[in-house]
Amino acid sequence: MTQHVVAPVAEVPPGSHKLYTVKGRPIAVFKVDGEYFGMLDRCPHQGGSLCAGVVSGVLVSGKPGTYRLERNGELVRCPWHGWEFDIRTGQSYCDPAKIRGKSYPMSVASGAAVSEGPYVAETVPVRVEQDYIVVEM
Ligand code: FES
Repeated sequence: MTQHVVAPVAEVPPGSHKLYTVKGRPIAVFKVDGEYFGMLDRCPHQGGSLCAGVVSGVLVSGKPGTYRLERNGELVRCPWHGWEFDIRTGQSYCDPAKIRGKSYPMSVASGAAVSEGPYVAETVPVRVEQDYIVVEM
């Protein structure tokens, strides 16, 4: 799997999310409890933008009339039909066994590490044959 630089960390402050295009794919980047998570910005139901959804948590009730919010900031609700997904794993809450948002591993690298690589431009072998430059791809 190839690594791609997405953005400076300051662009996605704690509790926020932002949409980026990485290798032609829309990737929603979320920051939850100091960690970054990436999801394909395409709901597996009918393609709604998960980055445009509301981020929330899970309401838990031990008995009628009482409830509490847990895991606040760890779920995103698709704005089209309300399906909810775990930002950490992409798991859906409407059909966890079958439906999952596509998630991507994220990490933070220092500026020095980013400038050193492994972000290397792709090279291709080139040679000269008589009067023509030939590239192999
Ligand atoms: S498109 Fe996301 S819930 Fe329908």
